[in-house]
Amino acid sequence: MTTLDPQVDPQPNPPVDPEPNPHATAEEVEAAYADPKLANVLYHDWEAATYDEKWSISYDQRCVDYAVGRFRAAAGDRGWPYGHALELGSGTGFFLLNLMQGGVIAKGSVTDLSPGMVQVALRNAENLGLDVDGRVADAERIPYDDDTFDLVVGHAVLHHIPDVPSAMREVLRVLKPGGRFVFAGEPTRVGDSYARALGRLTWWLTTNVTRLPPLTGWRRPQEELDESSRAAALEAVVDLHTFDPTELERTARSAGAVNVRAVTEEFTAALFGWPVRTFEAAVPREKLGFGWAMFAYRTWQKLSWLDENLLAKVLPRELFYNVLVTGVKPKA
Ligand SMILES: C[S@@+](CC[C@H](N)C(=O)[O-])C[C@H]1O[C@@H](n2cnc3c(N)ncnc32)[C@H](O)[C@@H]1O
Repeated sequence: MTTLDPQVDPQPNPPVDPEPNPHATAEEVEAAYADPKLANVLYHDWEAATYDEKWSISYDQRCVDYAVGRFRAAAGDRGWPYGHALELGSGTGFFLLNLMQGGVIAKGSVTDLSPGMVQVALRNAENLGLDVDGRVADAERIPYDDDTFDLVVGHAVLHHIPDVPSAMREVLRVLKPGGRFVFAGEPTRVGDSYARALGRLTWWLTTNVTRLPPLTGWRRPQEELDESSRAAALEAVVDLHTFDPTELERTARSAGAVNVRAVTEEFTAALFGWPVRTFEAAVPREKLGFGWAMFAYRTWQKLSWLDENLLAKVLPRELFYNVLVTGVKPKA
């Protein structure tokens, strides 16, 4: 039988994803200041190729433990592996690919508004030999049928989405009855205010101290610093929300979820982590090697332990930097 056989309906063409646009024109950047979705596409297409390096993302035990730890903190470890999982705002695939490597998920689909990010995520999945497909998608209009996935995940994506309640309704629509969602890595309202203040202070200190003659080797070239400042300006456009844990739970319930639970984490870990990440962005990459990355990670781990096992028992949850939320689609 050929595709010209009159008795066979021609298959609709599969949707073709738009091409990445890593070098936006000045006019496009200007327009993006008034359009958060365009800003997200341009900013993340531009960042995609260097994103893993910038954020010290890897696909080894360090990041597998981190991703699985976040999942477990939100949703526990019953019901693994989930059969087919969708990630929204996957970026380079950090969360879903590491969850797959950690045995949480069997098969994955990555989606992101940025075509550049989807390309890198699929390349990362292929390099890791994981069963993953992907497409460009807006979380407010998820291009999959109702009742498709056993699990929907996202990491650091909700705060970029203009209409979070409609994205939540979409999540509930594409989940199978009984399926679960887990969103991690979202900034709380209080946490974001101290993290930003610490970040700004660290940037100012690092970029000024490295003007001193004995330290100029630690100064990034001026054009790179200027580029980072322009990126930071666009970053302010793409970061749309911070969350109160109780309100986030309410949003998930209003979308139809049950067994909803938000947890928060990282207080001293965030007070340490944000200056460290800002410092890393302000000095030449070659100055900080694997030893530094391990020092930063181990310290973050110890502080996270303190936050979880001691401070979480005595401080209000709103004070912590990260909020995670999980819930379930009711069984029909
Ligand atoms: C901060 S990055 C996080 C990427 C990745 N999840 C991680 O943790 O490394 C946020 C991602 O969300 C994507 N994004 C922003 N708005 C979106 C939307 N409306 N729908 C889907 N993805 C979106 C961005 O393109 C970007 O890749």
